[in-house]
Amino acid sequence: MLTGRSLLRSDDLSVEEIGLVLKNADLFMEVLERKVKKVPTLRGKTIANIFFEPSTRTRTSFELAAKRLSADVVNFAASTSSLKKGESIIDTIDTIISLKVNLLVIRHGHSGVLNFIAKHIKVPIINAGDGKNQHPTQALLDAYTIKKKFGTFSGLKVAIVGDFLNSRVARSNVELFSRVGMEVMIVAPPMLLPSDYTVLGVPVKTAIDQVIDHVDVVYMLRMQFERQKRKLYPSIEEYNRFLTLNSARLQKMKKGSVVLHPGPVNRGIEISEEVMDGAAAGNRILIPDQVTHGVAIRMALLYLILSQQEEA
Ligand code: CP
Repeated sequence: MLTGRSLLRSDDLSVEEIGLVLKNADLFMEVLERKVKKVPTLRGKTIANIFFEPSTRTRTSFELAAKRLSADVVNFAASTSSLKKGESIIDTIDTIISLKVNLLVIRHGHSGVLNFIAKHIKVPIINAGDGKNQHPTQALLDAYTIKKKFGTFSGLKVAIVGDFLNSRVARSNVELFSRVGMEVMIVAPPMLLPSDYTVLGVPVKTAIDQVIDHVDVVYMLRMQFERQKRKLYPSIEEYNRFLTLNSARLQKMKKGSVVLHPGPVNRGIEISEEVMDGAAAGNRILIPDQVTHGVAIRMALLYLILSQQEEA
């Protein structure tokens, strides 16, 4: 169903296809729990990881996912490439494709660059995050983490809290979470919201205290300082007062509810040091699970896109 396809946005996948990815992730989680965490499924295929922006989780998990499936991986870092000598992005991508790669995983700092690249090439692309636009594999691994915890999406209330304005994760997650059946709300003050937020069609609250005691999932967004051209929030103290998940708020959370964050966490801003480190959080904080599940989700996508694909 996904053979040879690109994944640029969360809504490139139907609900049925999202279900297929999650089902396959379950199979690959089982592989990841084995002593030998490797299957020969993509032997002979080559995947290029092309990152124009820094990454820890996404880049390493795509690399590991490819290796667990026995594919070959080439890692391209923009900072040490011929881009520095003035080569254009399209010429760079064409050069990598000439090395006979089967799929490109691309992260870029500018929204929409991947759509531009996709129009010029025939090789499938997976979007590993483009500017403020989309991060579809994050949405898939987050949905998977929620499904593993609750067994269902139906009826779950999710609050997505923080810097919505600069977050590609928020855009992909609101879209995908709503479509699979979760009740999504945004918690952000006006200065952290884009002007077009109403098109998302979800309710907006301005402070975490308005939702903390009745949602099932508290999804803390990273404050994207690297994408803020100017300071968007008056002070860290103000942020802490209205948006930070601290110990007092943790105590108010609904029984069985959980906390997710895409990482990397700005400690003391989105989540307090004591919540990050403290035993008080118990098993509410699912951040390590998100990272683990990211490998299985990316294995599932690489498998579904490449396993049946004919060589060009
Ligand atoms: N969640 C996420 O995209 O993290 P990285 O920037 O470390 O890849």
